[in-house]
Amino acid sequence: MAELLQGWKRTGYCAEVKEEDVGKEVLLMGWSGTWRNLGALIFIGLRDRTGVMQVVFNESFTPKETFELAETIRSEYVIAVKGVLAKRAPDMVNKDMKTGAYELHATELKILAKAQTPPIYIDDDLNTQEQVRLKYRYLDLRRPSMQRILMMRHEMMQIIREYYAANGFLEIETPILCKSTPEGARDYLVPSRVHPGKFYALPQSPQQYKQLLMLSGFDRYIQIARCFRDEDLRADRQPEFTQIDLEMSFVDMDDVLAMNEGFIRTLLKKTLDVDVKLPLPRMTYKEAMETYGSDKPDTRFGLKFIDVSDIARQGEFSAFKDAVEQGGSVRCINVEGGVDKFSRKQIDELAEHVKIYRAKGLAWMSMKPEGMQCSFAKFFTIEQMNALVERVNAKTGDIVFFIADAKDVTACTALGALRLEVGRRLSLADDKKFELLWVVDFPLLEYDEEEKRFVAMHHPFTSPKDEDLALMDTDPSKVRAKAYDMVLNGNEIGGGSIRIHSSELQEKMFRTLGFSKEQAWARFGFLMEAFKYGTPPHGGMAFGLDRLVMLIAGTNNIRDVIAFPKVQTAACLMTDAPDTVDDKQLRELHIRTEE
Ligand code: AMO
Ligand code: AMP
Repeated sequence: MAELLQGWKRTGYCAEVKEEDVGKEVLLMGWSGTWRNLGALIFIGLRDRTGVMQVVFNESFTPKETFELAETIRSEYVIAVKGVLAKRAPDMVNKDMKTGAYELHATELKILAKAQTPPIYIDDDLNTQEQVRLKYRYLDLRRPSMQRILMMRHEMMQIIREYYAANGFLEIETPILCKSTPEGARDYLVPSRVHPGKFYALPQSPQQYKQLLMLSGFDRYIQIARCFRDEDLRADRQPEFTQIDLEMSFVDMDDVLAMNEGFIRTLLKKTLDVDVKLPLPRMTYKEAMETYGSDKPDTRFGLKFIDVSDIARQGEFSAFKDAVEQGGSVRCINVEGGVDKFSRKQIDELAEHVKIYRAKGLAWMSMKPEGMQCSFAKFFTIEQMNALVERVNAKTGDIVFFIADAKDVTACTALGALRLEVGRRLSLADDKKFELLWVVDFPLLEYDEEEKRFVAMHHPFTSPKDEDLALMDTDPSKVRAKAYDMVLNGNEIGGGSIRIHSSELQEKMFRTLGFSKEQAWARFGFLMEAFKYGTPPHGGMAFGLDRLVMLIAGTNNIRDVIAFPKVQTAACLMTDAPDTVDDKQLRELHIRTEE
């Protein structure tokens, strides 16, 4: 059989033709995205990854046999077209197309592959269920918007490598088949054939390896690393995702933050031409929780919390009074000028919404022009109400929402959710803005009610703050960590910490987490052993690459930025993974499944 291409070579990409190519012969290859047959004239929208070129077959310049072949072209055929690049007549110019000023006058044609009618329409304003798109992901990825996102992701990966390499970071790969270590999310396990009954775990992150690389003297490490976590999926979570993972030796927290805010500035400048002012603001975890009700505050808009516990406890409203008396709080947000924007029905919707976050109710105060309406006024004296109005600076036209809870964190978290919902309904967050900040001084530990013990808030290798070390023995819940998260428009885009670098402190940390010495050694022995051989002070962080791409590409669906993503149930609709395997495979792995 004759060679299909017979020496034909592309002269370039469809949407990269230049003015100086006009009048010259060009040869393009791609997919026939659209075709229109007007009798003596055939138009094909020839598409490749750069865009679309309009190809014209016209009996006046297209030889007869080529024209007849062109008549057989259908959607998504793969074709090669030779022709002369021409300028379109001024009234035919399509301003919405990158190549809208040109067209290709076809003289020769090869059909390289026919195509069945695709099950999804290859177009950006398609209205197809995502499930169908994911089943035919390879077709979905032909759509220009998907191509744009994956190209942007590629571009970002180049910027990452360039920035960190220029700053002396070495790219080093770490294993995918690892040892399971408790803490963090659930592991994905891989059974061992050679070691019956034993399992590898897929890495939740390269955390321990990168720390060991510091110990080995590599000093600055970076990896664009795959991570695997068997956790409940959300809009911004995938079971396998990618981190920009890095670690540095001989540094303290300020060095790590400076290096990485430099990166984010470079990234936003090069991708979106957005200027970020450095240094980034830093907010303590306490402030973030108490004023935004979130450890990843969206600071594009205000609606900061006001603590009114002291006034609210004075009245006879038991929801308020009891909350404060039981050690909790009453906090509120003043939605300035919002009084007309929330009907009673909408307030009821908000009250339902905050229940998801365990709020017991939602109280409100509407500053109507005809006078104040308030859900709890009858329990307060006029003086007390005046004090409240003054504290929250409520003016005519404002509406104030209150949440009380015997647990301050619950009041804050629920009010934080309300703040975001109000912000969303009133479009308070400017989507052109890029508000970055560091959240610092996280608690080292959090109490796990289910396990009845402390667990590490970041991970068990995170160093406590020096000034809080003594509290490790007396009041572990109060110990703050040398941990930090970078937040962009209310999204946690990265996080890290300065690490514990002495084996004594590491042992103490494991003790506080409730591991016996034997348990700690069984699981983390190699690390604690390693720390005895001269460990430089070190720290690092990891950015969630997928989340960064989402924010930069402007999508709120993490599946849009991953070529072959998983769905909510962690399945791949295209390949049907996970799937059953042959009995033989199971036997080799010493595995029997239960019905
Ligand atoms: P952490 O667990 O905070 O830290 O993860 C770092 C960043 O990775 C992103 N991320 C995810 N993205 C998509 N899907 C997920 N399931 C997912 N989980 C996390 C987030 C997060 O900020 N080893 C430490 C880093 C360090 O201390 O250096 C770590 O993994 O954007
Ligand atoms: P209840 O006493 O549950 O009937 O609630 C009376 C009103 O107070 C309702 O409008 C509730 O939404 C509101 N409310 C109840 N509990 C709280 C709370 N913890 N914080 C704010 N408002 C509350």
